[in-house]
Amino acid sequence: VSIEAVIFDLDGVIVSTDELHFAAWKEIAAEVDIPFDRTDNERLRGVSRMESLDLLLGDRAGAYDGAQKEVLASRKNARYRELLGRLSPADILPGVMVLLADLRAHGIRVAIGSSSRNTPVILERLGLRAAFDAVADGNRIQRSKPDPEVFTLAAHDLGVEPVRCVVVEDALAGIDAALAAGMKAFAVGYAVRHAGAHGRATTLERVQASDLLDL
Ligand code: BG6
Ligand code: MG
Repeated sequence: VSIEAVIFDLDGVIVSTDELHFAAWKEIAAEVDIPFDRTDNERLRGVSRMESLDLLLGDRAGAYDGAQKEVLASRKNARYRELLGRLSPADILPGVMVLLADLRAHGIRVAIGSSSRNTPVILERLGLRAAFDAVADGNRIQRSKPDPEVFTLAAHDLGVEPVRCVVVEDALAGIDAALAAGMKAFAVGYAVRHAGAHGRATTLERVQASDLLDL
């Protein structure tokens, strides 16, 4: 079957917000006196905000009730939003703009499929609001990756069958989600270690439309 659409994850694929998530979570971890380093942060890739908090709290997650967790998660998000205020189009990762133009030139539709509820704010800061034909994000789904919901929704918005979509992801849970959706999966960054991906590259620099269309 021929590929008609490419669905991009946002955080870690279009823009490197990982450090900002890490900085914000680290402040929460310090408040509750839990050690939290970059390796711990890797496990939060692609995972929703509340699930991330549970991972951060680990054994101690049971010691907090729902309301207390909401407070911690909204404090993390407030700090993260402050940090997002510094984002600009200069933060779009290398290769992204060239690849988007190449895909367009091939008549391929492009979408965002992200677990983040901050997707609209991030796209606005990057000047990319009009760059995608569809945006499926954390505000519109019930189940986050590895569930396929966000990618299935993006394909539905585009009016493209899942088997005709390629997902570009940096999270292991995101590759699993793409495979569960019946889509082709192209891994970048951290996700290159996922054995199930159909293709991979360390970064999107020098990745061409043909690399995604011939998987
Ligand atoms: C994903 C990130 O894109 O969005 C995760 O990889 C993050 O690290 C998740 O936890 C949810 O983000 P937000 O912006 O809704 O807190
Ligand atoms: Mg990601």
